[in-house]
Amino acid sequence: QRPVLRLLSCPGTVAEDLRRDEQPSGSVETGFEDKIPKKRFSEMQNERREQAQRTVLIHCPEKINEKKFLKYLSQHGPINNHFFYESFGLYAVVEFCQKESVRSLQNETHAPSKGMEAAIPFRSRFFNLKLKNQTSERSCVQMSNQLPPSSKKLLEVLCDAESIDDQLNTLLKEFQLTEENTKLRYLTCSLIEDIAAAYFPDGIVRPFGSSVNTFGKLGCDLDMFLDLNETRNLSTHKTSGNFLMEFQVKNVPSERIATQKILSVIGECLDNFSPGCVGVQKILNARCPLVRFSHQASGFQCDLTTNNRIALTSSELLYIYGALDSRVRALVFTVRYWARAHSLTSSIPGAWITNFSLTMMVIFFLQTRSPPILPTLDSLQTLADAEDKCIIEGNNCTFVRDLNRIKPSENTETLELLLKEFFEYFGNFAFNKNSINIRQGREQNKPDSSPLYIQNPFETSLNISKNVSQSQLQKFVDLAQESTWILQQEDLDGPSISGSQPWGLVALLLPSGANRKSIGKKKSRKPANERIKVLLESIKNNRTENFTDTNGK
Ligand code: GTP
Ligand code: MG
Repeated sequence: QRPVLRLLSCPGTVAEDLRRDEQPSGSVETGFEDKIPKKRFSEMQNERREQAQRTVLIHCPEKINEKKFLKYLSQHGPINNHFFYESFGLYAVVEFCQKESVRSLQNETHAPSKGMEAAIPFRSRFFNLKLKNQTSERSCVQMSNQLPPSSKKLLEVLCDAESIDDQLNTLLKEFQLTEENTKLRYLTCSLIEDIAAAYFPDGIVRPFGSSVNTFGKLGCDLDMFLDLNETRNLSTHKTSGNFLMEFQVKNVPSERIATQKILSVIGECLDNFSPGCVGVQKILNARCPLVRFSHQASGFQCDLTTNNRIALTSSELLYIYGALDSRVRALVFTVRYWARAHSLTSSIPGAWITNFSLTMMVIFFLQTRSPPILPTLDSLQTLADAEDKCIIEGNNCTFVRDLNRIKPSENTETLELLLKEFFEYFGNFAFNKNSINIRQGREQNKPDSSPLYIQNPFETSLNISKNVSQSQLQKFVDLAQESTWILQQEDLDGPSISGSQPWGLVALLLPSGANRKSIGKKKSRKPANERIKVLLESIKNNRTENFTDTNGK
């Protein structure tokens, strides 16, 4: 039986509707989660991009024989690796060893001829496998999970942990991006790059933000940026000679207008020709213009920008901080999850603190420990060599890129202590006078009256948390103080508490005020399973019904 592969142009249901509690079990453990990346950011990005270019995405029939499927595909060349996942249908991500295999596969496919609809021919790397005779064999392919655990499952595993340190590490392990999810993110960017190539053949679509900065969690959005620097460099490098590149360039009054024009045509292209891109919105009047869309097959909510090299550089800086010490990511994931559980952050833009700001606050706090757990940005700049020198739009973005040149910290504080101290530090921070500044790792006088001032590390005259209102900041401070109090009470009550009783991190995730009665009065007399039921009920009935919304924020 010979399968037929088709070029895909399939509409379907929107990925946001994915029901989390119906995830397939038995997700693949990859070991990725324990590895702290030591590669340079650019090296890692280039490697992953090259891998993605050799990769195809295949929508498979529900019942599939994995062995036959791979045998069929390997007619086009050896396969490096593959995995299956579910997202309103079964999908396979197949990475060939060579790029030519993709072309060979494309040459064998044909466009679908659907009765009433007409296909727009476009040579994508997204295929639809139709079997002439449906196999009756039950498919028993192992599924790779692309979604975060439900709040219920998470609370259960946290209650079963052995210590608060173990809880923080468990939370990290459950939420961090898997190797497969990372591959899918790079593949999605690569598929979008194919579309952008219609206008900008030298353009590179690079992921940035939490997909690559080591702080991304399963379900987070996919931020990507169309990098046209290669083209720009081609046109500006040559300064001599009689020919100017004017036939290639068109001038417009400002960078902003150029960005808007580029994104406008790419948005049209995505909407009209890109298989699986739905809900395309051009948000061109925003401070940072973008095109937002949903990539159905991967389930990612995507934000595409251009001319955004500073954001990519911030991602690189966070990548370095995340990779320097294994406690950093565990603490950032925990603080972000805590903030989401208490509705301090939201997927809707507004006066809330953002995940990006929270990450900066954790980094800053870790710089203030004695001895420091993280170096200041100024000291990373001192360690830079000539190759690291980088000025973007007049801003000094120089810092050391080679992780091996940064000395590991001698601080040995536990995660439990750090979490406690984090809440205490920010519960008592003089937000009315001082600003947070990761360049110097020291509190500075606030240059203006914004309630929360976190200096943008590269555009140093800007505040990344300008949007935060006084009442949102106060809510953060109150919750930080309450969390300090809860952890202190636990210390007084002696070591916790076995079984499924809410303790440690779980107690911090309870709705505000809920702990004052139960935890303060030592252990509750209800049986453990009864108590966890009450906890889950209370979470369900509160606004925290699912801390992990579709954007994962
Ligand atoms: P998630 O909430 O998991 O998506 O985290 P994120 O880090 O990806 O945040 P987001 O998608 O909001 O933004 C993507 C990237 O844009 C961030 O990682 C930053 O590099 C940058 N960014 C976001 N907000 C700001 C801001 O207020 N100022 C500056 N300078 N950069 C920002
Ligand atoms: Mg993001």
